Amino acid sequence: MRYFLLGFLLLGLVVVSVAGFRGGITRRPPIELFPDMDRQAKLRPQSAHGFFPDGLGSRLHPDQTIPRSQPVLVAGTPVHPFEDHPFNTGYEPGTTNFVQHSPVPVSETLLARGRERFAIHCQPCHGAAGDGKGPTTKYGMVVIGNLHDPRIVQQPDGEIFHVISEGRNLMQGYAANLTAADRWAILAYVRALQLSHLATLEEVPEGLRATLK
Ligand code: HEC
Repeated sequence: MRYFLLGFLLLGLVVVSVAGFRGGITRRPPIELFPDMDRQAKLRPQSAHGFFPDGLGSRLHPDQTIPRSQPVLVAGTPVHPFEDHPFNTGYEPGTTNFVQHSPVPVSETLLARGRERFAIHCQPCHGAAGDGKGPTTKYGMVVIGNLHDPRIVQQPDGEIFHVISEGRNLMQGYAANLTAADRWAILAYVRALQLSHLATLEEVPEGLRATLK
């Protein structure tokens, strides 16, 4: 009986405390057991504040500040990293269609850079020849894309750029590791690798034909 009374009392207390004050309005601040850092002195952006002599809450950039994003020259036009430009996205601006051709003109330095970056970032899995037989196949990575697969050869430049940037299926993206310029350089080198596999014997200079395997 004692336990029943105690339980009844507690139950009544719970019902009153939960239901009793519903809809009640109070102007007093709620009791905060753990205020953490909910309220703190701060300046609101774009509003007046008396703290600084000029009365502005926001500060102007200090002299000689260097912007965080520098434009990259793409075929002579400056392109910022935040712009909706094929150089950044691999898409035709404002659409979800991949660009057919890289916006970066191919040059020997671009290919050399692409080759070097490919060796660092792609070769471990895709192999030096791009056939998907890199060292990691020995350690259990079995389904690595063969870059000479006709399906991949036929992909637009923008799509391969997208795969390098965002990844696809089992492959992770490399946008965090490689600048957009380097990703386009790698694409150019991948195209060179693909071309090397598609070339006919007649396209190889005569003196070099005997050295082919
Ligand atoms: C850690 C291993 C690994 C690395 C490093 C890697 N890839 Fe891949 N890649 C894969 C795997 C695995 C696939 C197959 C993904 C699938 O279809 O599941 C793939 C697929 C691809 C494909 C084909 C995508 C498609 O449409 O099927 C391309 C193109 C490609 N990789 C390019 C690259 C390039 C360029 C680099 C260097 C920046 C790179 N990969 C680095 C593992 C890797």
